[in-house]
Amino acid sequence: MSIATQPRTAAAHPTAATSTYHHHLGTSVHLLPQTDQLRALHTVIRDRDARREDFVFYAGRIIRLLTEAALNLLPFEPYDVTTPVGRTYQGLRFAENLVGVPIVRAGESMEAELRAVVPGIRIGKILIQRDKTTKQPRLYYTAFPEDIATRQVLLLDPMLATGGTALAAIEVLRDLGVPEEHIVFVNFITCPEGIAAVGERYPGVRIVTSAIEEGLNENAYMMPGIGDFGDRYFGTD
Ligand code: URA
Repeated sequence: MSIATQPRTAAAHPTAATSTYHHHLGTSVHLLPQTDQLRALHTVIRDRDARREDFVFYAGRIIRLLTEAALNLLPFEPYDVTTPVGRTYQGLRFAENLVGVPIVRAGESMEAELRAVVPGIRIGKILIQRDKTTKQPRLYYTAFPEDIATRQVLLLDPMLATGGTALAAIEVLRDLGVPEEHIVFVNFITCPEGIAAVGERYPGVRIVTSAIEEGLNENAYMMPGIGDFGDRYFGTD
């Protein structure tokens, strides 16, 4: 008797871990399934009175879900193994090398979960800060593997609000020869303004997120939002 083998070519848009696949002005936004569990995790950390240890712990759980969803979007290639009973399992493995690039500072909150699921992954850095007078994002520091143009890049920043920092970071990667289609922006919460900003300029960049907020207030904070993610996660101003 022959048993049909599973197809092993990765789907064009493998969205198994993400229930919703949106096109906002051309941007691919992969929103995590809005399960009761995810809402319960968000409830802990959105509470203004959350203790820091709870914020860090429950944010970490959501970041793990985001990381797994982001890995689902990467290209895979056929790879067979022999099972302990001597049969062939027609499997898959990552087709290309990866690099994680946190945007300092808040993006560094996502580094540990990425390392936990991809041991030994290369980690670049981009430090961008908004100039207090011009309000324009300014690039201070970068570090990348020299072959970054051939890698799949997981760009890490939990906040995508106006999109100013994200656009500056993507521009740095593009200038190094990274194709838009190689960039997965791993994001915690975003809003229509941020999605539109990235989508208009870089429609090939995919965004993985756990929440899409209503919008921005006059201080460019997302609403209902989470406050300043970096301040709350790291306990500094
Ligand atoms: N950055 C944050 O940390 N929070 C926001 O709401 C917007 C930008």
